[in-house]
Amino acid sequence: MNPASATIVSGQESEQRMSPEEQHSSPEEKSKSTDTPPTIVDEKDSTAKLRVSPKETAGEESEKVTATVKMQNTAEENSDCSSNGANGKMIVLKPSPSVMNLDQSFDSIVSPGTGRQTGHLASSESGSMMVDEAWERLRKSFVYLKGKPVGTLAAIDPSAEALNYNQVFVRDFFPSGLACLMKSPPEPEIVKNFLLKTLYLQGWEKRIDNFTLGEGVMPASFKVLYDSHRGKDTLIADFGGSAIGRVAPVDSGFWWIILLRSYTKCTRDHTLSELPEVQRGMKLILNLCLSDGFDTFPTLLCADGCSMIDRRMGIYGYPIEIQALFFFALRCVQQMLKPEGGGKELIERIDKRITALSFHIQNYYWLDFTQLNNIYRYRTEEYSHTAVNKFNVIPDSIPDWVFDFMPLRGGYLIGNVSPARMDFRWFLVGNCIAILSSLATPAQATAIMDLIEERWEDLIGEMPLKITYPALEGHQWRIVTGCDPKNTRWSYHNGGTWPVLLWLLTAACIKSGRPQIAKRAIELVEQRLSKDGWPEYYDGKTGRYIGKQARKYQTWSIAGYLVAKMMIENPSNLLMISLEEDKKKAKPRLTRSTSWSC
Ligand code: GLC
Repeated sequence: MNPASATIVSGQESEQRMSPEEQHSSPEEKSKSTDTPPTIVDEKDSTAKLRVSPKETAGEESEKVTATVKMQNTAEENSDCSSNGANGKMIVLKPSPSVMNLDQSFDSIVSPGTGRQTGHLASSESGSMMVDEAWERLRKSFVYLKGKPVGTLAAIDPSAEALNYNQVFVRDFFPSGLACLMKSPPEPEIVKNFLLKTLYLQGWEKRIDNFTLGEGVMPASFKVLYDSHRGKDTLIADFGGSAIGRVAPVDSGFWWIILLRSYTKCTRDHTLSELPEVQRGMKLILNLCLSDGFDTFPTLLCADGCSMIDRRMGIYGYPIEIQALFFFALRCVQQMLKPEGGGKELIERIDKRITALSFHIQNYYWLDFTQLNNIYRYRTEEYSHTAVNKFNVIPDSIPDWVFDFMPLRGGYLIGNVSPARMDFRWFLVGNCIAILSSLATPAQATAIMDLIEERWEDLIGEMPLKITYPALEGHQWRIVTGCDPKNTRWSYHNGGTWPVLLWLLTAACIKSGRPQIAKRAIELVEQRLSKDGWPEYYDGKTGRYIGKQARKYQTWSIAGYLVAKMMIENPSNLLMISLEEDKKKAKPRLTRSTSWSC
């Protein structure tokens, strides 16, 4: 999350000045005047120049979208992003009514009897109350655009400054959307609106300084503001121009595609994914990833901080989280893309990339006891295609902790692989997404589950789940994070504990036939999460302490719990977020260590 917020606003050409009171409402509304176009405004100054320049075609497309899905917000909405009043008068943007209510006390929102939304039978009385509370809180986080729900706020913590937690983050919405789809009966409307609204935002011209971002980039987040002059809601989006380090969210487009498939799977409504605008949106996202370049690997080259870990944490290069999401998205598009209009060609490229990517990840990212031993004994400086140590990894670079951490039974996909660099850290998201998308082979999926069981104290401890293991400390923390005071050891992204990850673990456990692991984790969550006020993250080696700067009532902590519960109670919900193994794919050379059975 970014304390120094700035925002790209698109729409029609406009200039705008903020009133003094706006400077206090949220950092994104505070902006700095600039002489040159973009579009990026800084929170520190009180005047703003918001350049709003959607591509004309985007407006037309959006009109088509709205017409087809009957969203009522046609021409008006296409100019929503304009912040310029008639006669060029200054306009004050205020949080829309949906955001304004947030300061209310939430202590009274659990109303027994009215709260039970669905057929999710909680196992215990306290679990049942927690489920009710979670649904109430999730509902309170809904963000409305012209009366329609379009997303969920990142957090509603009345005791902390909003920063950009009052925005709808694409990645954060994923578990919220899933919860609505898994609910019985499902409530797919918010998901559909979200997918169309973010698709509309994708059509904006995205500029940071004088540089224009790729057409397909999806926003990291957006917010709805109420334009009091025009009397209507206005959208503001961030494509990385406000992010720490100014990094675009590579994961957003992938989460969008995966959610589109979940929606289609749940509703069996193919009309959404078949809309020409939606087909185009998918193609634009993939064009960003499938373009020819200098790559010798099928993996996607990324900047640090381009995903859930959105600060410098040494995940630049080819991080497993992005590779797994990329693979998942490719396989979803394979199911949803129509061959017409250039689709056939793209499908062929997708097929080839899927084959190459799964081979690369299954072989070169996989680490278990046997493979660790192989790397430990690697020779270096091997030239030509006969090399065993293809990336010239120097055995001395293997960190000491891996030798202790690696159980005889189990294994995992390591964090990153590039020339002379293997990042041996464990990352939960990448490993679970690899299981759900069948990027990991069934044997590898079983071994990942074995590892979680064997290293329960390290990876789960007192509260699920460690985002990464181990933490960077001392000199390493200084050079890898650049002395990040938020990512100190065992805090936040650096070995912190994130309750939201419970849904991912649960899904991966069910997929690999080990639901009891998830049940154990859910029990731990039920002991504390609600009592602690649904924090964003916990700190400490075992996750005992509420995070230093953690928000309370973090929406994805709430939604993640609900999704985990609904999957345990009705495992068929898993079908919305998992893909079966493609039997035609070649089997990898390296799979699970044969030592697993000892
Ligand atoms: C933090 C997290 C990011 C999340 C955002 C909103 O920045 O690192 O992953 O999307 O908060 O909750």
